Amino acid sequence: MIVEKKLGKSTQAIHAGESHLSALEKSGIPLLPPIYQNSTFRFTTAAECAEAFRDEESGYVYTRWGNPTQDVLEKKLAVLEAGEAALATASGMGAVSTALLTALADGGHVVAMANLYSATFQILNEDLRQFGIETTFVDVTDLTQIERAIKMDTKVLYLESPTNPLLKLIDLRGAAEVAKAHGLISIIDNTFATPCGQQPINFGIDVVVHSMTKYLSGTGAVIAGAVIGEKEFVTRVKKGALRNFGAVISPFNAWLTLQGITTLPIRFARHCENAGQVAEFLEAHPAVAWVRYPGLQSHPQYELARRQMEAFGGMITFELKGGRTAGEHLVDRLERCALAVSLGDVRTLICHPASTTHSHVPSEIRQQIGITDGLVRISVGLEDIEDILSDLKQALESCAS
Ligand SMILES: Cc1ncc(COP(=O)(O)O)c(C=O)c1O
Repeated sequence: MIVEKKLGKSTQAIHAGESHLSALEKSGIPLLPPIYQNSTFRFTTAAECAEAFRDEESGYVYTRWGNPTQDVLEKKLAVLEAGEAALATASGMGAVSTALLTALADGGHVVAMANLYSATFQILNEDLRQFGIETTFVDVTDLTQIERAIKMDTKVLYLESPTNPLLKLIDLRGAAEVAKAHGLISIIDNTFATPCGQQPINFGIDVVVHSMTKYLSGTGAVIAGAVIGEKEFVTRVKKGALRNFGAVISPFNAWLTLQGITTLPIRFARHCENAGQVAEFLEAHPAVAWVRYPGLQSHPQYELARRQMEAFGGMITFELKGGRTAGEHLVDRLERCALAVSLGDVRTLICHPASTTHSHVPSEIRQQIGITDGLVRISVGLEDIEDILSDLKQALESCAS
């Protein structure tokens, strides 16, 4: 692990976590990690079986508890996110919910970023409230707002950066310091940035969660998630909320995600390159009111983006001058860019958050946090840039006519 952490990201993405495979084979180590597509594991003696129950590190028992294919993925994730340990889950929300349930096992209060992925907002605002866990939502781009929201029983600081869909950034080092000073567990959803864009643990954040449905798997074939952090925390998630509530990744989805991760650094570089060009094109277009992209100088936190991000990502948010009608017209006219929720796919995906991903967030809260009705979100894919731009150009021209 220590040696793997010194490797470049592309080498890590391809090789990390796979070295123990040799011990599983008598001869001929499989070049690709195999899929252990089985629910249970057989023992030869009662003593061996009892030992596996006593010491889980000694062997595999049942796939809801652990599986060799999941293991390879988890070892790779820990290396890529610079964490001690990682856990793969059945979905991004499986990761968010099990991390929160573990951090809040004794109850307590949460301080969270006001602009979050909608299902995470619902967990905090509705589901956890049913169990007496309250959340105060604040604009964490201003760190003093965290301090002001902290109460006697606050246990967790929950973050996203860049946020979905407004692409606001949080000063990761500053937020981690505030959390540490008050004894809070800091959790960040790093789905938009990926470990190629930023490694929050290196800034002092305690726990990273991912929707691996997005960039990490990359082809839109999988729903999957991950929790990464200190071994003690990850083990508590694994042996408690994950195992018992059951949001366990299937070996096949773990394997598909592994294949995706091997090309993450190279894909992410191309996502960023294409997105930079799309952002500049949109910013110069007369039909566009404004564009948010962390790599644009016009982003209010451009300096922070340069300081803490290694690459600015593939997500862009923009507003058309013609508001909701123009936004709907645009997505109707696009031919190559697909009208679809989700992100981080090889294909360019475009969506309208107010009527889709954030439609469950009450309208007044949407307006308050800046998710206007005319806002459009684009996940720039890996197609040739000329083809993405020409599709956007023809659709935007038809908006103006
Ligand atoms: C930032 C973010 N976190 C979490 C999720 C949830 O992931 P999943 O759909 O894999 O459960 C999403 C889904 O879009 C997301 O955008």
